Amino acid sequence: MSKLPGNAGAPLLGDKSLEFYRDPVSFYRQRVEKHRSRVFQCRLLNRPTAFICSVRGMRELLCEKSNLFLKDPTDLMTNMYGDTIITTNGEEACLLRLSLTSLFTGSCLESSSDYITSVCVRCLKDLSLSGQPECVYSVFKRLGTELVLGLFLNVRAEEQPEQFQEIMQLCTQHWHGLISAPVSVKVPLWSSGFSTALDARDKLMDIIKDKLENDTQGFVGSLGSLPLPDSNSASQHLLLFISALIPKAVASVLTSFTLALSGKEQEETRRRAREEPDYLHRVLLEVQRLWPPFIGGRRIADQDSNLAGFHVPKGHGAIYISHGVHRDPEVFEQPNDFVPERWSGR
Ligand code: HEM
Repeated sequence: MSKLPGNAGAPLLGDKSLEFYRDPVSFYRQRVEKHRSRVFQCRLLNRPTAFICSVRGMRELLCEKSNLFLKDPTDLMTNMYGDTIITTNGEEACLLRLSLTSLFTGSCLESSSDYITSVCVRCLKDLSLSGQPECVYSVFKRLGTELVLGLFLNVRAEEQPEQFQEIMQLCTQHWHGLISAPVSVKVPLWSSGFSTALDARDKLMDIIKDKLENDTQGFVGSLGSLPLPDSNSASQHLLLFISALIPKAVASVLTSFTLALSGKEQEETRRRAREEPDYLHRVLLEVQRLWPPFIGGRRIADQDSNLAGFHVPKGHGAIYISHGVHRDPEVFEQPNDFVPERWSGR
């Protein structure tokens, strides 16, 4: 078995976290080119870490070898969201998935299509009217926030504007604290941003618990009656679903979609996407392939193992970079080109 190309780095000084989080795409691209390998190692979060930018490596990490590479219990996600499906492993994760899936496939979200349509119409109508340049990311983030708060918490901006506004502000404080923590290296967990984020989380949890106790309708009503592992589980999952993470991902995908289909040369693509739902679906897949809104995900090797033919010792980290995986030329021909047709029949 081969040794991972790259430098595992010395403790603290050899750490590349700042460089990586500042610009993950340049970071991985430079190293893939230098090592001529889509799997390499560096020191991240003060741990030697295998960086995975190949489909084969990611598939092994998340599927075949998911029992060997576990989520990190000291991860910031655990600090900010408590124990949720995002930080759970093995059988416990399987049971949680079974319970939560019923919420997304059952009737509690089915009746929401009128709500979704009305939010989209209201949030997007001004875009076509103004004739002025607009920051579409902000418009889409508002759309994403209205969707998650209405769908998952029964808080609709039209009906309860004050509560909506309060939750939106708390979500932003919570999220900013979360992302500021890994880069405020001097005093990682006790920066003022981080403690403001913890205060915001406590306030959000009070609102969520109140909803879980008193609302019997919709997603929150169904979640409240699920058999979950402990009394905090429902509220922690709701926090995960409503916090800025999902509206941001939705806003990012829709912004990339808008940019990819803008301009005169995309006129035909826009026409087809409007008229053919299957084609629109392929366009959306291609947008998510080329511009994935999240960096990826990280695990820790629970025992000596290997990924894509490279040895990964016990205790080392492994991180998959979605942007790199999605542009693996082994799987995607002309990986950097926007070609929605590549998805047809797949
Ligand atoms: C464009 C939108 C989204 C993107 C790009 C996205 C991306 C991701 C990624 C990369 C992971 C895997 C993290 C890892 O384990 O390494 C994940 C997991 C997860 N996401 Fe999303 N997500 C999106 C929207 C949503 C929405 C709308 C929900 C539901 C409210 C959601 C709920 C979850 C859950 C529950 C998991 C954990 C799944 C499990 O471990 O079984 N995500 N998401």
